[in-house]
Amino acid sequence: MNNTIEIQITKTASSKLPQTDFDNLTFGHALSDHLFVADYFQGEWHNPRIEPYAPLSLNPANATLHYGQSVFEGLKAYKNEAGEVLVFRPDANFRRLNESAKRMCIPEVPEELFMDGLAKLLELDREWVPSKPGCSLYIRPFVFATDDFLGIRPSQKYKFMILTSPVGQYYAKPVAVKVETHFSRAIEGGTGYAKAAGNYAGSLYPAMCAQKEGYDQLLWTDGKTHQHIEESGTMNVMFVINGTLITAPTTTGTILKGITRDSVLTLAKEMDMPVQERFLSVSELKEALENGTMQEAFGTGTAATIAHIRLIHIDGNDYSLPEKPRDAFSNRVLHKLDAIKYGKEKDPYGWVYRY
Ligand code: COI
Repeated sequence: MNNTIEIQITKTASSKLPQTDFDNLTFGHALSDHLFVADYFQGEWHNPRIEPYAPLSLNPANATLHYGQSVFEGLKAYKNEAGEVLVFRPDANFRRLNESAKRMCIPEVPEELFMDGLAKLLELDREWVPSKPGCSLYIRPFVFATDDFLGIRPSQKYKFMILTSPVGQYYAKPVAVKVETHFSRAIEGGTGYAKAAGNYAGSLYPAMCAQKEGYDQLLWTDGKTHQHIEESGTMNVMFVINGTLITAPTTTGTILKGITRDSVLTLAKEMDMPVQERFLSVSELKEALENGTMQEAFGTGTAATIAHIRLIHIDGNDYSLPEKPRDAFSNRVLHKLDAIKYGKEKDPYGWVYRY
């Protein structure tokens, strides 16, 4: 990719590559050598640059620390057999970042800042993209307020950064989830669709309570009636009931518009899988688990990819799901998605960007 903006580059004097164990990658621990950074002030983005990864120095009155004006994204880079770096749907992450930013009164990031910053960062840190199957370079673009002011108003200054982290699987095993009918993650008119830091902070306590009971994550229900399944804490959720793929629509503004979700729905159509984008009620979910028509349940997300659900807790009862046969839809779609992401299969949708 050619850069259209001028990006100043300062390389690290000592790479962390030799100390990084690429054979035992988990999620979110290892951080690569460089960061992309740009600053917003006086109504414009300034000074795009790449710097050695380093801690930030923040004024204790920083607006993000107090009022949480911060949004982020998650996408992944893969290395194909020819050693090329492939990134999955960065254009979609760029658009979603700005949808989230708008909701949080954060100025939009121009496309060339996002795309060129990412391209330059990957060029510099391409050795950080793992080549081991199942591993990838997780890319985390984020924007946060940097005013040092305790009054409540949209900040006038921001930082846009992109950091990267070589990762393995987010969920190493199928997960157990609990249907949450007391706490709410989102409500119509709220910020549920935005990838805003505060949405994740608010979900920590309910998730921690479920984890203490032995569940990995929550299945959030709608904030008004708690009767419909919305999403999980780290991913969208899908069910295969009687041969039909069912997932909640994203039209209520309460659910994250997952890019993996969209990709799975697109591939499902190509794979002749019947799809229903509709709310599944908790009672319908329970009935399908009780009468054996529930064939598969799984989460979809950038970090989680396709995460199989092995158990669902509803209202005091644990329901185990059947073992997934190799030809289960979730396995076939994961295989197809991976083949596109790693450049092994043709990409008719223009999802893969080569660097
Ligand atoms: C992602 O899938 O990229 C996310 O942001 C989920 C996060 C909770 C790890």
